[in-house]
Amino acid sequence: MTSETNFLRSVLITGCSAGGIGSALAETFHSRGLHVFATARSASKMAHLEKLPNITLMELDVTDAKSIEAAVEVVTAKAGGKLDYLVNNSGQSIVMPALDTNIQDAKKLFDVNLWGVVAVTQAFSPLILAAKGTIVNISSIGAFVHTPWLAFYSASKAALDAYTHTIRLELSPFGVRVVLVTAGTVKTNIFKHYEECPLPPGSIYKPASNEIQALGKGELVQGTMPSDEFARKVVDDVLGGATGTIRRGKHATVVWTLLSIFPTWLIDRLMFVSSGLGKLV
Ligand SMILES: NC(=O)c1ccc[n+]([C@@H]2O[C@H](COP(=O)([O-])OP(=O)(O)OC[C@H]3O[C@@H](n4cnc5c(N)ncnc54)[C@H](OP(=O)(O)O)[C@@H]3O)[C@@H](O)[C@H]2O)c1
Repeated sequence: MTSETNFLRSVLITGCSAGGIGSALAETFHSRGLHVFATARSASKMAHLEKLPNITLMELDVTDAKSIEAAVEVVTAKAGGKLDYLVNNSGQSIVMPALDTNIQDAKKLFDVNLWGVVAVTQAFSPLILAAKGTIVNISSIGAFVHTPWLAFYSASKAALDAYTHTIRLELSPFGVRVVLVTAGTVKTNIFKHYEECPLPPGSIYKPASNEIQALGKGELVQGTMPSDEFARKVVDDVLGGATGTIRRGKHATVVWTLLSIFPTWLIDRLMFVSSGLGKLV
């Protein structure tokens, strides 16, 4: 099959809205000479990438099978039936006590953070297999830091971690690399999407509502890494042949290290204070 991408290596990235990790990854992969298929739910959120050469912009909603199918068709035609790198970056969060979370909202979160990754990976797998390419899944320290009010975000990322490491093994006989990126805190729009949702009437968590709102707005985050620095490190790792888990972003390594050293009672005590749980006893 002939290729329109001039024999450049190619990467497809989900969730490339301006200001986020996906956009920074798109610009960094582009600067390293790859043809970038930058995707987002809305093309208008990628207008800042429009003028770059060797970038194809496409609308892609990872929860919509038809949208995924259309993206596969475009990449198959433009990149000659091969895709060297697939970056599953799209993600959403919910900040709410687990008992108060609407189960439909929790399911929608899993539709993006887990099932979206599964669907996009399956759909692009023939192109990745043809290239002996690499799949990169963007996870979070939230997968193993059990922060109150983030139960379903954490659960979705923990499920993503398990899925990623399993397909890493299942795809290894075919020369396909799979990389899990455990992201620490990175400066993006992730907290700008937070809508102040009042706790349901009668919630047993009312005394902690200030802390819940503060977490949702990102006010409890102690420092972030700029998204372009995060992207440079991740792209260096990925193009340098990394496999397995890589930890990038503010606090990613230190949190992982402390969690393996500190006893559970000490971590629980710290969580109690920062989350407002202490006000409930
Ligand atoms: N920033 C951090 O501190 C941090 C830490 C750990 C992990 N992460 C992870 O990093 C990834 C990127 O997040 P970010 O920080 O860059 O946040 P962001 O700025 O909010 O970007 C999230 C991206 O995901 C997209 N998205 C949401 N639902 C989608 C769907 N159904 N289909 C396709 N795209 C969808 C968003 O599109 P819209 O613009 O249309 O909403 C946006 O482009 C996420 O997986 C997140 O969990 C971030």
